[in-house]
Amino acid sequence: MHQHQSIGVFDSGVGGLSVAWAIRQLLPAESLYYFADTGYAPYGEKTDSDTYQRMQAITRHLLACGVKAIVVACNTATTAAIKELRAQYSLPIIGVEPGVKPAVLASTTGVVGVLATPRTLLTPAFASLSQRYAGKARVLLQPCPQLVPMIEALELDSAVMRELVAGYTQPLLAQGADTLVLGCTHYNFIADVIADVAGPGINIVRTEMAVAKQLQHRLAQMQLLNSGAVGKADCFYSSGDAGLFHRQLRRLWPAAATALPL
Ligand code: DGL
Repeated sequence: MHQHQSIGVFDSGVGGLSVAWAIRQLLPAESLYYFADTGYAPYGEKTDSDTYQRMQAITRHLLACGVKAIVVACNTATTAAIKELRAQYSLPIIGVEPGVKPAVLASTTGVVGVLATPRTLLTPAFASLSQRYAGKARVLLQPCPQLVPMIEALELDSAVMRELVAGYTQPLLAQGADTLVLGCTHYNFIADVIADVAGPGINIVRTEMAVAKQLQHRLAQMQLLNSGAVGKADCFYSSGDAGLFHRQLRRLWPAAATALPL
């Protein structure tokens, strides 16, 4: 591995772009290779072993592209099989899990709600994460199966989206939750809608900057941080519809970006 190599970042679709953007802000000298696995999305409806197969295929692709580290920018994939992926490959692999710990620390009512894909909430990895805090707060789980397809379709702030968000969050708020965890990277793109629908005084916990900091820490430890001025241009790749991915990037990636041809 060499410090001038890129960092691979992947998700089932566009959600991980929010994590990639946090990395872009924190580590401007690094270059990114983003892989959106839209051809196989959503992961939230797959078994853990199907998701693991996609994680392996993407990791092989990213290694062939010469990355020095991989960020699994997806809670569903991380909770499904990051342990297995780490056991199989020796490069640094950083994941993202729902921010239950910061949520418990932020809550004054002692009730937190976790919004995530149905699959994430069913994994043993998530169960053990949430059990760690069970004595300190009530952790309410809310699967949100309809959000990812809407976000992929760039329906970010429609009346339908607001209604869906209200349907998912109201039961949590009614039980006293004052803190909502965005346990799926896609939800970062509707964080403002969630905050607005939930109303004033509700904490929204996001994890993308913590992931970027963890990556920075691991790269520094392994002397893999790029010490040069600015890295080469970022690359974006989708295993699905290239036209849609171009539109998604134009809307969701703040810097001008061009997807690689398939
Ligand atoms: N963005 C992914 C996550 O953080 C989930 C999307 C999906 O269901 O494919 O969990």
